[in-house]
Amino acid sequence: MNPGAALRGEAAKALARVAFDGASLRAALAASTSRFADPRDRALLSATLFAATRWWLRLDAALAALLEKPLPPKARDVRALVVIGFAQIAVLDMPDYAVVASCVDAVRALGHANYAGLVNALLRRFARERAALDATLDGDIVTRTAHPRWLVDALGRDWPDDLDAILDANNREAPLTLRINRRRTDRASMLRRLADAGVAATAHDDLADAIVLEQSADVTRLPGYAEGVFSVQDGAAQRVAELLDLRDGLRVLDACAAPGGKAAHMLERADVDVLALDRDVTRLPRVAENFARLGLRADIRQGDAAAPEQWWDGRPFDRILLDAPCSATGIIRRQPDVKLHRRAADIAPLAAGQTRLLQALWPLLAPGGRLVYATCSVLSAENEGVLAAFRAAYADAQRVDVPAPFGRAAGGGRQNLPGTGGMDGFYYAIVEKPR
Ligand SMILES: C[S@@+](CC[C@H](N)C(=O)[O-])C[C@H]1O[C@@H](n2cnc3c(N)ncnc32)[C@H](O)[C@@H]1O
Repeated sequence: MNPGAALRGEAAKALARVAFDGASLRAALAASTSRFADPRDRALLSATLFAATRWWLRLDAALAALLEKPLPPKARDVRALVVIGFAQIAVLDMPDYAVVASCVDAVRALGHANYAGLVNALLRRFARERAALDATLDGDIVTRTAHPRWLVDALGRDWPDDLDAILDANNREAPLTLRINRRRTDRASMLRRLADAGVAATAHDDLADAIVLEQSADVTRLPGYAEGVFSVQDGAAQRVAELLDLRDGLRVLDACAAPGGKAAHMLERADVDVLALDRDVTRLPRVAENFARLGLRADIRQGDAAAPEQWWDGRPFDRILLDAPCSATGIIRRQPDVKLHRRAADIAPLAAGQTRLLQALWPLLAPGGRLVYATCSVLSAENEGVLAAFRAAYADAQRVDVPAPFGRAAGGGRQNLPGTGGMDGFYYAIVEKPR
């Protein structure tokens, strides 16, 4: 068999799970890369699946335009395989003759030999008729930008002047950003270690602990990973620990803590007493593993943050972080499957849940204490809307300006839009309780 055929067949099956079964790209990718030992195969599989998921709404529309009638549901792996081929030709710029030959072998290996002729013809036509197809697909913002209509509309309502920039940023690859573990190194030493290992990297201008790599890398192979010298964390997420204004001895609640990135950052920066809570018991082992690798200690507990009576011992917290479950519309560049899986109808229930969490946690804050509300959403309903509902219910909550060299003021908080400062889309708000 053509050597690339196994990889393309595997990519097609993984993409079908993401596009048709609602599987997360991360899970589908992990399952399929585990079948390949060669790091080059794994890298190609990853690049292909990201490109095909990111551009699904455009490339699948290109396929529809080339077909007289849609492929039947039982041929879903064939549909996904053709999109894989399109992505490799149009996004990854691979030579079309190689892609066509491998995909034709792959369709046979997938048990759909009867589609070999069609796959061959579709991929050849795609390569030949690209200019005309592009002109048609560029005529509608959905197929031009590969974002679903509801999301384009929602972003257009919330960010009319930034819509094109947001859609464009969502379709770009995110940089790999590290957070140094202050307890084990300093940034200059880490930069030297990376340079010695031939890894090009720079210090982030505005974030004290952040290092941005010029190219993506297998982080477990970077110097110091096993020793817990650094973690992977986007710059926008690294902002949160700064906003908490931590000092030694404070008692801190991280109400939605898993997998523990922000809680770890807090513990690296100050001798604080952290309760890392999460409702999802399956996510808690990751928190413990991360803390162990980084040499950090905290109380890790399963519990529903909206029902403190089940887990709270009655001692108030000086700081509370609510890094709330959200639509993830700010991190589409890292999780392009959000474009395929989220629905307009998800947003109101998410906002109601966020409001419920905020209201349930406020009584746990000590007088003079500070609560930081954060989401990786760019939708005002989950950000400004939640804050407004909360402040209407709790007149004593005092809003504090979010100091930040980036982002923009938004409804009493601050919004970073995707790509700004090289970072993810993120929202932050600070509220304090009077003494
Ligand atoms: C955005 S993630 C948190 C990321 C984490 N703060 C970090 O920096 O690594 C949201 C988390 O909220 C948790 N969650 C959702 N609803 C919850 C609830 N009612 N109580 C506690 N945790 C909840 C989810 O299981 C998920 O782990």
